[in-house]
Amino acid sequence: MGDVESLKKMLKTHSDFPKKASGIVFLDIFPIFRDPIAAETLITHFMHHLVAETVPQSLSKKVDVVVGLDARGFILAPILALRLGAAFVPVRKKGKLPGECVTATYEKEYGSVFYQDEFEMQADAIRPGQTIIIVDDLIATGGSAKAAGQLAAKLGGKVLEYLFIIELSYLKGSQMLDAPVYSMVKED
Ligand code: ADE
Repeated sequence: MGDVESLKKMLKTHSDFPKKASGIVFLDIFPIFRDPIAAETLITHFMHHLVAETVPQSLSKKVDVVVGLDARGFILAPILALRLGAAFVPVRKKGKLPGECVTATYEKEYGSVFYQDEFEMQADAIRPGQTIIIVDDLIATGGSAKAAGQLAAKLGGKVLEYLFIIELSYLKGSQMLDAPVYSMVKED
């Protein structure tokens, strides 16, 4: 069995989480991180994508900053940043980061319920001209990733790619984004 297939099998589904009777099928990535070999396989998969010399979009030499999204992006992004020799920068829910911050609003969807949320990034976290990848565990409607991209752009960063473990393709979130999207698993 291929690495991606075995990692995909480790994703656990939870019906109607986090809201009861919502119809959401929640995909849990934590079983992968309980197994160090699986976690290493996951990171190696992404590193192959980021550094492969043969692919034209090889990004490794160019990534200055790996931005991770609150909260599950904080698991993956710092590991990739260390492997790439890049900086790690968090995007957090409003009010959690000290010092001067830039802010972006986004619409979140859970089942059929929509609500607004705000993301922040520290204003000195990215310098103009730095190259960025934006990382999260999952892309659904793309609202939070888009807001993270806006924050990076506000500080003069150039977003090279958005990277996810899982893409819920049927929600077409990648169409919201202004840079290429790479996802290991696509759920149709
Ligand atoms: N975030 C938004 N939709 C999700 C889902 N189905 N599983 C896990 N995280 C999510």
